[in-house]
Amino acid sequence: MRFTRRQFIGLIGAAGLSGCARVGLDKVADMDVMPGGPGRFTFAAIGDLHVLDARSTGIVNQAVDAINARDDVRFTIVLGDLATDGEYVELNLAHTSLARFEKPHFLVPGNHDVNMRAKNIYGNYTKLFGDANWRDEEEGWLFMGIDSTNEAKSDVAIRPDQIAWIEKQLKKTNTKRPIALMTHHPFNPNTKYRVQNADEVLAMFSEHNLKLVAAGHFHGNQEETRDGILFTTTACCSSTRDNHDGTSAKGYRLFQVDKETVTTEFVAVVA
Ligand SMILES: [Fe+2]
Ligand SMILES: [Fe+2]
Repeated sequence: MRFTRRQFIGLIGAAGLSGCARVGLDKVADMDVMPGGPGRFTFAAIGDLHVLDARSTGIVNQAVDAINARDDVRFTIVLGDLATDGEYVELNLAHTSLARFEKPHFLVPGNHDVNMRAKNIYGNYTKLFGDANWRDEEEGWLFMGIDSTNEAKSDVAIRPDQIAWIEKQLKKTNTKRPIALMTHHPFNPNTKYRVQNADEVLAMFSEHNLKLVAAGHFHGNQEETRDGILFTTTACCSSTRDNHDGTSAKGYRLFQVDKETVTTEFVAVVA
């Protein structure tokens, strides 16, 4: 997760109650901090940027500018694969483009953000973007970003250290609070590249109120609901890669939250 001081101040100002909710979170029954239950808000998600060089940042800048132009978007989640080979120069170019966001943005890494030639394969990413795992509260919702990578593999299982982190978060989360899980590798019940232990991870939320799992990696628009949970993947926002489903539109996804209901739409940046 990374945002500038200006963005952070903006977040606290815009978030109101949710800004307060960060204080002493471990000490309160956290649903109590949102009187009247979860609220209404809009956020965006973008992913699979696959930045390679300065030229390939063009579409990313275009998407960020389009999101900035929308007053209703409160924050943006970047769903991994910012780079091509996890090289510092690629990730730094992506970082510069994402710094154009005028409101907060939160990130998870993808398999292309891992540098398999480095001693610390996750070092370039964490140097630029900080912790891969994060939690953020918005209008009575809990957003959890998890690192789904396992080296640079395309087919993965969520690692034991990540499962332990999720377990720890759930222990301090009111079971009624709606939860949105943000991850690079998809959990959609019928997607290609589905996380191998997706059902095991989803079962961890059985006593909680998981409502949304948003992912990238598939490079294509998919929306599927199972057991009251909305699962999505989104077309890539890249000029260096194609969509895996053969479609040509590139862009980002909007999520409209109304209490516990989430609706979503894809927004093309390049048709
Ligand atoms: Fe990708
Ligand atoms: Fe990926």
